[in-house]
Amino acid sequence: DETAAIARLKACGVIPVVVIEDASRAIDLAHALVAGGIDVVEVTLRRPAGLAALEAIAKSVPNALPVAGTVVTPAQVAQVKDAGAQAVVSPGFSEAVDEALKAAGLPWLPGVATASDCMRAVAAGRTVAKFFPAETAGGPPALKALSGPFPQMSFCPTGGVGLSNLSSYLALPQVICVGGSWLVPADAIAAGDWKRVTQLAKEASAAFKALRG
Ligand code: 3PG
Repeated sequence: DETAAIARLKACGVIPVVVIEDASRAIDLAHALVAGGIDVVEVTLRRPAGLAALEAIAKSVPNALPVAGTVVTPAQVAQVKDAGAQAVVSPGFSEAVDEALKAAGLPWLPGVATASDCMRAVAAGRTVAKFFPAETAGGPPALKALSGPFPQMSFCPTGGVGLSNLSSYLALPQVICVGGSWLVPADAIAAGDWKRVTQLAKEASAAFKALRG
């Protein structure tokens, strides 16, 4: 359900964007994030292992919200629904993906970077979006400017966001959470360095709580 999923993103505050090469690491990775206070996991379809990784988390880590990322086609919408995704994130907006998600009944954060993107999202009834790629699209000043004509929209900025700049996004009331890959480094996943992932999750979670309580 859309309201419940968005509430989970809001409460989590920092959404880890996972790029995974080996699905057998997924369950340990999700547990490591949950141990650090991050209970939403966005698994991208950027690697062949993504779908199986998402499915493993959805099946075996009940306290983590499984989110599918980098969903760019209607066919992928069907795949991630079957895998157990409870929300979907895309880097951009397309009417075809919008319709597939409405049919699937899954919450969706389309990616937006411009006023035209926001017009299309709003026309489709979408009011929660990923602001992507956040830093190169102009960062917090661009997001603030976009919110002028689209006051009904709220955003999850992602792309170039990290511990050092997340406060500048979270200072904006229209930002519900931020996303990033920094808390799930590829080398830590490959090495099974779950202590490091938990530590990064703890830092991110603490930074969020310090700003938003
Ligand atoms: C995404 O698709 O959300 C980004 O690749 C994550 O961006 P980052 O790697 O700069 O955090």
